[in-house]
Amino acid sequence: MTIKAAVIGDPINHSLSPKLHGFLLQKYNVDGNYSAIHVLPENLAESIKSMVNSGFAGFNVTIPHKEKIFHLCDIKTQNALLTKAVNTVIITENKQILGENSDIAGFLNNLKYHQANFGLQNKTTHVIGAGGASRAIVCGLINSEVKNIFITNRNQQKALALIDDFKEFSTKKHVHLEFLNHENFEKSLENSDLLINATSLGMTGQPSLQLDLKNLNLQAIVYDIVYKPLMTNLLESAKNRGNKIVTGIGMLAFQAIVGFESWFGLNATVDDELLNYLTKL
Ligand code: ATR
Repeated sequence: MTIKAAVIGDPINHSLSPKLHGFLLQKYNVDGNYSAIHVLPENLAESIKSMVNSGFAGFNVTIPHKEKIFHLCDIKTQNALLTKAVNTVIITENKQILGENSDIAGFLNNLKYHQANFGLQNKTTHVIGAGGASRAIVCGLINSEVKNIFITNRNQQKALALIDDFKEFSTKKHVHLEFLNHENFEKSLENSDLLINATSLGMTGQPSLQLDLKNLNLQAIVYDIVYKPLMTNLLESAKNRGNKIVTGIGMLAFQAIVGFESWFGLNATVDDELLNYLTKL
């Protein structure tokens, strides 16, 4: 019987997930189907029920449902509990809704794929942004036992709320987590081992990210979660001054295979062929 999965969101037309999973289903010759379903916020609970009843193995969740669905899950993984967000749902054999946040694995595995020799433990990291993506990244960094995480964000209150939510976890892991204003953030880049843009700035159609890299440690890796364009202004500037870079498209691919493997029951590999395919979409 064909195994069914999907992505739900509002809007949903822009999602690359159906093509990504379609590529993997074909590559691994799986009898599966992955569709895009437009779900309005007011219909979320009802839509999930109908997906459970019609035999879906699970689904991805995108904007704007990632936080709301968290509260509708019967079981939550540690990652979901820490980020309070769910982007991957697995429907268990006894029809329970299991919520996972695979952005954390997506972020970490993409870093490993591009910079295999870089270990996060004890490193000093800088994160721009305090939205959902940033929460997953901060969670991954704390779990990897970095030494410092410095965060900056346009909306300071939002960053402070994020820091507050991760206070217990960061203390437990001996990670220093601190907000810096834009100016101090730029200054402190001289000590950075890893700089991450976790905002949508630099994406096609969005304003570009304004950040002076003149103080940035030349050994630091610069990681942008934006993947359209693949080479953002931030990554171009970093590359031109000699820093190593990590592009964002792999984060999408690595977060996707978490769901793919659970629903369709086989191991999948992220490779350059998949990343090149996604980059051209
Ligand atoms: P996501 O789930 O992709 O992280 P989000 O939760 O909407 O999306 O977060 C978007 C991030 O990009 C936030 O850090 C946001 O900053 P604010 O918290 O100040 O809103 C940042 N961002 C988006 N547009 C921005 C802009 N024009 N200038 C500065 N920051 C921006």
